[in-house]
Amino acid sequence: MVAIEVKNLTKMFNGFTAVDNISFKVKKGELFGLLGPNGAGKTTTINMLSTLLNPSSGHAKVSGYDIIKEREKVRRSIGIVFQEPALDNRLTGKENLEFHAMLYGMNKKERNRRIKEVLELVGLSDKANVLVGNYSGGMKRRLEIARGFIHRPKVLFLDEPTLGLDAQTRRHIWDYIRKLNKENKITIILTTHYMEEADYLCDRIGIIDHGKIIAMDTPNRLKDKLGGDIIILELEGNADKFMNAINKLKFVNSFKKHDSKLTLMVKKGEKRLPEIISIAQKKGVGIISATLHKPSLENVFLHFTGKTIREKEASQKEKFMEFAKRRFRR
Ligand SMILES: Nc1ncnc2c1ncn2[C@@H]1O[C@H](COP(=O)(O)OP(=O)(O)OP(=O)(O)O)[C@@H](O)[C@H]1O
Ligand SMILES: [Mg+2]
Repeated sequence: MVAIEVKNLTKMFNGFTAVDNISFKVKKGELFGLLGPNGAGKTTTINMLSTLLNPSSGHAKVSGYDIIKEREKVRRSIGIVFQEPALDNRLTGKENLEFHAMLYGMNKKERNRRIKEVLELVGLSDKANVLVGNYSGGMKRRLEIARGFIHRPKVLFLDEPTLGLDAQTRRHIWDYIRKLNKENKITIILTTHYMEEADYLCDRIGIIDHGKIIAMDTPNRLKDKLGGDIIILELEGNADKFMNAINKLKFVNSFKKHDSKLTLMVKKGEKRLPEIISIAQKKGVGIISATLHKPSLENVFLHFTGKTIREKEASQKEKFMEFAKRRFRR
């Protein structure tokens, strides 16, 4: 069963393409992540799927309903937690939920039951009557997730659910998101630029960059696509003969030398490392250090985009500063 179906979805803002012809499907009950740097087009995608923004072209169905022709039905079937916090600090946690539940037309009895349930689900039962202004950042985020879920949506959108939270609070929220997904069988589509978050939470990930989905699969299969484990050797001496020998090894999927460092992609790296080291010795090259690790999503991102996510974000910031400078000079 398909929960979300996206076909050639595109969004332009004054000639700038923010979302560029993306297509994907999300199965019912799946936890799907859109992973990408600042400005990649994640929020714009979520806004189109949740009917807040009209696509420039393309189609999408959410819970079987067309996002353009059946807006109201789409809206009734989804919950959304926005990237920007949207709670009323002057109300208690319970009152914030109450207000939302009323908008969905729940009667008093149902409201009370659901508020109790969702507060329990996100571990905030004992804070129900505390003013939200006195909540911590993590507690606010949990309350927003509870709110997005109160009317039992089939699909829940979480736009950067842990943005700006410390590592420990983030983990806490991951567990609640997982619980929501597994115990309530709700389809979740989340956006993030945290690699660990996508890796830990998502059944499948779409890597999005400059509005395009450039890779999509389970975290493990994405890592497997890199062709094995990563071995990094720091070499000493003339490595030409050694490099020739490496080039002939069938189990080396790819290698790259950067100054004195040689990076190799090798299937079953732990088994092959001793062999590689002994070849180096035979070819008269010293090895100062050798490390082996399984590819991370960071490596996957680098592989597909040519940059780390941090480099991408730094260059985005630079572009913005340039733009701002030119603006102010005028
Ligand atoms: N209303 C708008 N008008 C003009 N440009 C916009 C508008 N909304 C978004 N953009 C641009 O579209 C691009 C994608 O923005 P979007 O907010 O979807 O990115 P994002 O992946 O959610 O980024 P972040 O990680 O910073 O939240 C950006 O370059 C942004 O400046
Ligand atoms: Mg965003």
